[in-house]
Amino acid sequence: MRRSTLHLLRCPSCAAGSLVPDDDAGEPRLVFGPVRCLGCRATWAVHEGLIDLAPERARGKGLQQAMELPWVARSWETYVRPAVDAVLTRGQLDRDSEYVAMRSMLGAPTAPVIDLGCGPGLFLKKLVRDLPSVNVIGVDISRPMIEEAMAQFRELQLAADFVRAEAPPLPFLDACLGGVLASGMVHFVADLETLLAEARRVLKPRGRFVASTYEARGTTRALHQKAGLHPRGEDELRRAAEASGFIRFERIRTGPVLVWSAELP
Ligand SMILES: C[S@@+](CC[C@H](N)C(=O)[O-])C[C@H]1O[C@@H](n2cnc3c(N)ncnc32)[C@H](O)[C@@H]1O
Ligand SMILES: [Zn+2]
Repeated sequence: MRRSTLHLLRCPSCAAGSLVPDDDAGEPRLVFGPVRCLGCRATWAVHEGLIDLAPERARGKGLQQAMELPWVARSWETYVRPAVDAVLTRGQLDRDSEYVAMRSMLGAPTAPVIDLGCGPGLFLKKLVRDLPSVNVIGVDISRPMIEEAMAQFRELQLAADFVRAEAPPLPFLDACLGGVLASGMVHFVADLETLLAEARRVLKPRGRFVASTYEARGTTRALHQKAGLHPRGEDELRRAAEASGFIRFERIRTGPVLVWSAELP
């Protein structure tokens, strides 16, 4: 893991301390082995480019359980995501158009960017290539998803660090990021207000939160909620973003899919 990534992280146990390598005799740019919190002294495992900040977590609930199955992670980009996209947008929004919209809403960040709920890294790979001078970090709670992403990155000879963590909270220090991108992730989070409050805390001024999600009404919404999903409409997203102090809410709608962004003052 890059030392520059470690310097951005905040201990999830005490929600205060910075993390430092346990044995600091190593390579100046990279960190190997466990790291420790300067505040509460909790230790966290680092393996290659991955830090596990959720080692004790039980399996997810509802549809999130599927996100934690190795076969779903392996077939996500080839079969599962295309099937989900086809059902949601009836072929009106392909993944490339979704990425182009999100990439343009992200602007030109100069500080680190996280791909929150990166899955096997579909957009993370594109971001790493598009933003060669920015540290782009993958964050996800699903170990199989991160492992699949890491395998693909090795195969493609791309480099990125990964953080295993369940959001919210976001395990980053205050005002250290230039952007948070979350494709297909916010509907897995019940408490959007807390997620956005965390995004506000970790973003620098003018930092952007960019997400894709979908809306559902009436009985469909209730059914999705039973499966642990939280589809939200434009008004709800806008209100939540503004209540957390974001400005300049923008959105592109394709059927029930919303690609949206908001910026910090
Ligand atoms: C539908 S997939 C989207 C994957 C990828 N971003 C894409 O667009 O193809 C949602 C991802 O978000 C992750 N996820 C869901 N809830 C999360 C949470 N609370 N914190 C971190 N990751 C989460 C899941 O494990 C899964 O990998
Ligand atoms: Zn701590």
